[in-house]
Amino acid sequence: MACLTGLCRLLTLNLCIFVSLFCLLFFPGLGKGQTPALIPVPESLEMGSGTFMLSTQTRFYASNPEVRALIQEQLPFLKSASSPAGATVFFEITPKLSLGREGYDLHISPKSLTLKATQMAGLFYGLQTLRQLLPVSYTASSYPVPALHIRDQPRFGWRGLMLDVSRHFFDKAFVKRYIDQMARYKFNVFHWHLTDDQGWRIEIKSLPKLTQVGAWRVPRTGRWWDIANPESGEVPSYGGFYTQDDIREVVAYAQQRHITVIPEIDMPGHIMSAIAAYPHLTCEQAPAEVPPNGKFYKLKDNTLNPCNESTYAFIDQVFTEVAQLFPAPYIHVGGDEAYKGFWEKCESCRQTMQTHQLKNVEELQSYFIKRVEKIVQSKGKKLIGWDEILEGGLAPDATVMSWHGLRGGIEAAKQNHPVIMTPFQFSYLDLYQGDPAAEPASYGNLKLSTTYTLEPLPDSVDATLVLGGQGNLWTENVPHARHVEYMTWPRAFAIAEILWSPRRKRDFPEFLSRVENHFKRFDEQGVNYARSVYNPFVSVQKHPSGSLEIVLEHEIPGTQLYYTTDNTLPDSYAPLYTQPFLFPKGSDRIKVLAYRAGKPLGRLLEVSLADLEKRAK
Ligand code: ACM
Repeated sequence: MACLTGLCRLLTLNLCIFVSLFCLLFFPGLGKGQTPALIPVPESLEMGSGTFMLSTQTRFYASNPEVRALIQEQLPFLKSASSPAGATVFFEITPKLSLGREGYDLHISPKSLTLKATQMAGLFYGLQTLRQLLPVSYTASSYPVPALHIRDQPRFGWRGLMLDVSRHFFDKAFVKRYIDQMARYKFNVFHWHLTDDQGWRIEIKSLPKLTQVGAWRVPRTGRWWDIANPESGEVPSYGGFYTQDDIREVVAYAQQRHITVIPEIDMPGHIMSAIAAYPHLTCEQAPAEVPPNGKFYKLKDNTLNPCNESTYAFIDQVFTEVAQLFPAPYIHVGGDEAYKGFWEKCESCRQTMQTHQLKNVEELQSYFIKRVEKIVQSKGKKLIGWDEILEGGLAPDATVMSWHGLRGGIEAAKQNHPVIMTPFQFSYLDLYQGDPAAEPASYGNLKLSTTYTLEPLPDSVDATLVLGGQGNLWTENVPHARHVEYMTWPRAFAIAEILWSPRRKRDFPEFLSRVENHFKRFDEQGVNYARSVYNPFVSVQKHPSGSLEIVLEHEIPGTQLYYTTDNTLPDSYAPLYTQPFLFPKGSDRIKVLAYRAGKPLGRLLEVSLADLEKRAK
């Protein structure tokens, strides 16, 4: 009997393994429960029965030559048919769908596959969905896809990622790779933070020193806070910039992927790189260098002088060229974190404030941004700024990007201005995404599960004014492209889904199972991502007894956490965490390992007593 049960178990196990392998081999996009592992999850998805076989013999029909070219690029193994009669796959642009500009309808039956959209953007997004039903690379001769019907359209029109290329420079090839990754997940805005204190990255032909001087700083490695100042005579050899041809190439590349590139030229603060090139732009007019760190803040003037006409002439020159390079309707002018202490001491500012009856330096910043808006508008563009542009009064037609939580966005919407929600607590991709003990240097904390709770549309706000949102990656602690990917994914999966999918579809455990499927896709593509979601978190409270009370957490449901406090390595025979416990006297560290379904998951987390004590403060 025991033997028979054992045999049954073995057969069942083998059958399970066979079914799983079959599913993985033949339906790479299928997640748990056989629903396709699509990110972002579509507005509506009904599974059919059976499969349709896409193969190198399959003929597609598309009457529109632009569509034909797109299919040949995205699904190169398909062959084009000259008439519908010779095809089983159809791609169609039709005004008859009641879906918006970016929506699509994908219908797969065992006999045919039809993708329809009202515009090319929708067709492109439908193709991204179809590609997620297929393997990453097309090396086989046939690919079964499940019968289904998807009707899909985005919740928000602005679905962005921001990349800071100033603190560290990422070359054109990587920027294109990043744009490719964004397009696969239906992002449609690439916010390019092109300038900041630590580097000016866009060629401005009429102001050549911006890149000759401003694009270069002294080389440094290490944690941002520890980076040393330049030594006397040290050569600024680290950096780089995009030529205008590079910019045009990236913009065109993004356009082909239905991504709008928004340039940001940050001012009046965060602009030391330009000041190093043209010191007359500040109140102090002191010689400056491009800093490799942020230690100069408040000590050296990194703020444009808003009270000197030559500042506005400079901005006009820059925006003339920026406007010609970027077809986007917006120029982002920054406006964040400007230190105004030097304005307070500046004679020309005292006079300007008197002439224009400005009560304080916040109103002086508002005066500056309003003048900048006029320049932006004279180039045929609209102004976006970070939420500090609310201080002292908004410029008449400004769009506000809200990063201090949602409150700036709520306030701007109350004043009838469009807003983009990018609250740091949910969408700053430079924050720690796992327990700091197991992560590269950063600050703050933003778990994947927290990102997934972002709600860009507060109840009190007119929905038509919230254009959407984005994730922002500042790169002070991001020295190379692999690490850009690590910090971006998987939290950008969550942002993609929040901005595209209906709110009612949010389900974190279900989302996680799709994320794990996409980890495998990234493995195949060589795209880096963080596995931090697999690691435990340790938090600490001070217990009334004076001891440290340890709380262990994990983001993945159904995980067991085993820990030791005796300096040995935990396995599944170590104490199982069930509730907060007091850290034993004499112990100098805790080690925690997560298990799922009997298998270790993620990395061993080790936190020393000194670190636990810091966490308890
Ligand atoms: C910002 O994070 N300073 C916009």
